[in-house]
Amino acid sequence: MNDRLLIFDTTLRDGEQSPGCTLNRMQKLRIAEALQSLGVDVIEAGYPNASEDDFDAVQAIARSVRDARICGLARCNDADIRATAAALKDAAHPRIHVFIASSPIHREMKLRMTADEVVERAVAGVRHARALCADVEFSAEDATRTEPEFLVRLFNAVIAAGASTINVPDTVGFTTPGEYGALIRLLKRDVVGIDGVTISTHCHDDLGLAVANSLAAVEAGARQVECTLTGIGERAGNAALEEIVMAVRTRPDRYPVQTHIRTPRLYSAARLLSSFIGQGIPRNKAIVGENAFAHESGIHQHGMIADRSTYEIMKPEDVGVPGSSLVLGKHSGRAAVRDRLATLGYAIEDSHLDALMVAYKRLADRKKEVFDADLEALWLGVEDGADQPWTMDALHVATAIGTRNEPTASIALCDASGRTVREAAVGDGPVDAIANALTRATGVHISVQEFALQSVTSGGDAQGRASVRVVHEGREYRGQAVSTDVIEASARALLEAINRICSVNAARERQAQLAATGTEP
Ligand code: KIV
Ligand code: ZN
Repeated sequence: MNDRLLIFDTTLRDGEQSPGCTLNRMQKLRIAEALQSLGVDVIEAGYPNASEDDFDAVQAIARSVRDARICGLARCNDADIRATAAALKDAAHPRIHVFIASSPIHREMKLRMTADEVVERAVAGVRHARALCADVEFSAEDATRTEPEFLVRLFNAVIAAGASTINVPDTVGFTTPGEYGALIRLLKRDVVGIDGVTISTHCHDDLGLAVANSLAAVEAGARQVECTLTGIGERAGNAALEEIVMAVRTRPDRYPVQTHIRTPRLYSAARLLSSFIGQGIPRNKAIVGENAFAHESGIHQHGMIADRSTYEIMKPEDVGVPGSSLVLGKHSGRAAVRDRLATLGYAIEDSHLDALMVAYKRLADRKKEVFDADLEALWLGVEDGADQPWTMDALHVATAIGTRNEPTASIALCDASGRTVREAAVGDGPVDAIANALTRATGVHISVQEFALQSVTSGGDAQGRASVRVVHEGREYRGQAVSTDVIEASARALLEAINRICSVNAARERQAQLAATGTEP
């Protein structure tokens, strides 16, 4: 049976400390609930003496999250420790986490204390915390830039005073995997009473080594890892929880430990955090990024179709990603195109595939990604951009902020015969109103699944790009348009998607007619 590796999540404390990651109380509670459902062992809910809001958030989490251990951070002083104990009063499993800086630079420049005074203050802090809470963790801030012999002395003293977890923070992200592993081994060898306590890691990512350093510590005997969802945290961030968890799960040969994390919940927890802090997850982020299970190159796609394990070391469903995707782009080859067409229900002869690949490469050269609807259109022989069944003649959108009036869109479209159709509709927002007016005018029902606006130039007259993903009769279609007026860009993007639907529908009808009667309609 492998050792248990405790996952200590500090998204709500160290993570929330990072620029642009502020969360309100309701959001902190929702994240704490998601962390509990993920199965983390310890949730560091905040720093109660930092502000009234922090205190209230830690108290609310301590009252409502009952399975995970709830931890609050305190400096080694009476006010911090008392506030933390008070915030945790109603927790089912409370932990007080006390810390003091240990490195010479912090002792001299920040604390203006001697080494003896630091030991004295640390011991007093741990004793005070122990008098109020049975579970006390002690951190030696900037441990990795501390003289190892002083670290041993400090840990000896706080263990004797009652700390049950000793944390070895790489506060400034300075250490390297080899050095950090050696430090953990030294502590295991020299600290008195070390076998009765948990050694914890807490690594920052200034050199991009937070996860590698944490894992080196685990190899050396650490049994708690402090980390955050998607690695948010001070400066470059902390070790990413999902990376640590999946590394030990994927490589039990290197890390003979197991966590209690329900890994299929990783993806949704990361997305929840990203939506609250308003920061997208980079596409190439390990485990939870959009590209983590997406394959574009023809060689990789060929391998994936033959056997997923050729290019995937984890199953997407194990981390909660709906499935791997073979993204069709300019590097994709015949195998992937044929495979995707088959999934869409279109069988294709070799000779037809040869011709289709010529048109496909032309299209893929122009577009970053080729979507299902594009491929279907190619199969049906619809030339990209050739057909514009509808063009927009006029658009008027009215929104009245602060009134009960719903946003309204009036639209004038011209069809291929030159006839003008005018329609108006209301909606939940201006884009919804435009989509409803377009549906009334064209008779094409769409459900908008994704809508994104991005500025493509800067300044007051910046151009905005609107991108939409809509669903019509179970199929996805995309549209994009650029304009200095974002409302106009949105309407044109929706109309592009509708035009695509009309072209594909018309081509489908032609095919069906040809199959049934041998003649074009
Ligand atoms: O990075 C650090 O040293 C910390 C401690 C307070 C644990 O966040
Ligand atoms: Zn930290």
